This record gives sequence, structure tokens and C-alpha cells, in this order.
Amino acid sequence: MKKKQKQWTKSVASQWGLFLPPARPSLSELVIFQKYLLELKSKEKNLKTAILGSTPEFRDLCQTNNAEYRCIDYNRQNFDALKQYLLHKDADKNLIVSDWRKMEFEEKFDLFIGDLVTTVMPVSEHEKIFRNINSHSEENARVILKIPLRRNNEQQTHKKIFQHYRRNLSYMNPFAAVWHEVLLADYDFNEDTMRCQTSLKKLKESFDKGVITKYEFVEFKKRWDALGEFKMNIPLRKEYFRKLSRYFIIEKVTSGTDSYKKWAPMLVLRVKL
Ligand SMILES: C[S@@+](CC[C@H](N)C(=O)[O-])C[C@H]1O[C@@H](n2cnc3c(N)ncnc32)[C@H](O)[C@@H]1O
Repeated sequence: MKKKQKQWTKSVASQWGLFLPPARPSLSELVIFQKYLLELKSKEKNLKTAILGSTPEFRDLCQTNNAEYRCIDYNRQNFDALKQYLLHKDADKNLIVSDWRKMEFEEKFDLFIGDLVTTVMPVSEHEKIFRNINSHSEENARVILKIPLRRNNEQQTHKKIFQHYRRNLSYMNPFAAVWHEVLLADYDFNEDTMRCQTSLKKLKESFDKGVITKYEFVEFKKRWDALGEFKMNIPLRKEYFRKLSRYFIIEKVTSGTDSYKKWAPMLVLRVKL
């Protein structure tokens, strides 16, 4: 079988501290994840939660709420490197080493949680991940995904994006404030992906022309440098929902209270068995 490509390296994991929501869960999103975790735990005291990846915020969330959990991560080194961001250290038993595209293990779960999970996997593989989650679900399991989606193929120029930033969101870090718009500014709609290095090149051109400031440029540059050849996708909402609905009932579309909430909803799904 062809070896699956892995872009999430230990070097990315060890620089997790650089990232800001929406590229990691925000406090207001964690409140919602916690609400569902506690609600489900009150009905099923042996609730088993699967974290898709090794997101430190989710590991701490499960530990502080005394919820049993496993991280499903294809890279043990990332699980270990991300421990430095935990308030409560966890153990090897909290990890299942497996690719979301394979999930060749027996265990089933009552709840799956994930932040930007399919965002870091090619769109052509999304359905495989949905199918695998579905087949590792207990009856009535819930899946909560925070997921950046686009409504159409409109692209804005850096000029317009950063004018909006300066007028409306300058109290925030630019990376956090206009992440979504910058990702779409040079999106490859044919491949349905953005490439961090293309984005960096275009931001440099805008900086050299005086369209964006040094601060705006550097805040993106340091994170795109950390990610290297990383690709991310922001799929069309309609198409994403269509694929999801083969495996899940979409119970609720909600969000945190962050400025980007309309771009990155939290989807509460019930598994169709
Ligand atoms: C913090 S998590 C979840 C995604 C994250 N929010 C992001 O922005 O990339 C990242 C973890 O997911 C793991 N990961 C990425 N792709 C994976 C895959 N296809 N299967 C299993 N684990 C994967 C990485 O090894 C990393 O430790």
C-alpha cells in the first residue's frame, strides 16, 4: 500500500505555542466542548472520548473533567512534544497511534472531538475520515468538530483584508484576526487547498510594495515558517455538509464567541449507524 503522506512533523508540534485561535481552540470554544462533554458524561458515566490529534487544550479539558480519553494520533513524537503545553501531564495509555485515514484498532467511542482536523488533510480524504469515525462510534455517539469552511470562491486582496484589520480588529494579533481571509487570498480552488509557502511569498510581495506593515507581515511569517510546506483547506460549506450527512446527522451548528465565528463553526453531529 502507498505510504500515507504526513505533513504534521515533530518540529510543527514543538512550535504549537506560537499558534493562536482559530488555529487552535479558543476559550469560548472550549466552554462549548466542555458543555457537551459534561452533558454526555451525566448520561454515561463511563463515557469514552476520542481526541482527533493530540490537541493539548482537549487533553487538559478531559483531565479536569475526569473524563476517560484517548488521543488518536499518527505520530507518538507529536503527542509527546505537545505535553509541554499541558497543565496536567498524561500517559502513554492516553494515546492510540493511528492515522485517521486508517484507524485499524478495535476501540469504540461515545464522543469524538477535533479542532481543524480535516483542515490539515486533503479534501479527497475527508470522507475516509468521516467513515472511520463512524465505524469507531458507539450507538448514539456524538462528534464535535470546529471546522473552517467557505461559503463561495470569493477572494479578497491583501489591501482589502488588512484595511479591514486596521479599521475593525487592530486590538487583535493580525494572524488571529484575518487568518481565514489570508488563507483564501491565494487559495488554489482546483486542488482545494492553500499552501503556507505560497501565502508567505504573496505576503512578502505585499510587504515589499507597502500594502501591509512589517508587524502584519512578521506575525504571519513566523507561523508560516514554523509550518514549512504545510497545506490547509477551507472547503465549501455546502459540499462539506453533503459529505458529512452520509455518516452523521447534523444536530447543531454552533460556535464560540470569537470574531471569526462565522467562518469556523462548531458542528455537533450524531452518528448514523
Ligand atoms: C493538535 S492536532 C489537530 C489538528 C490541529 N488543530 C492543526 O491545526 O493541525 C494535531 C495533531 O494531529 C496529528 N495528525 C495530523 N494528521 C493526522 C492524521 N492523518 N492521523 C492521525 N493524526 C494526525 C498530528 O500528529 C498532531 O499531533
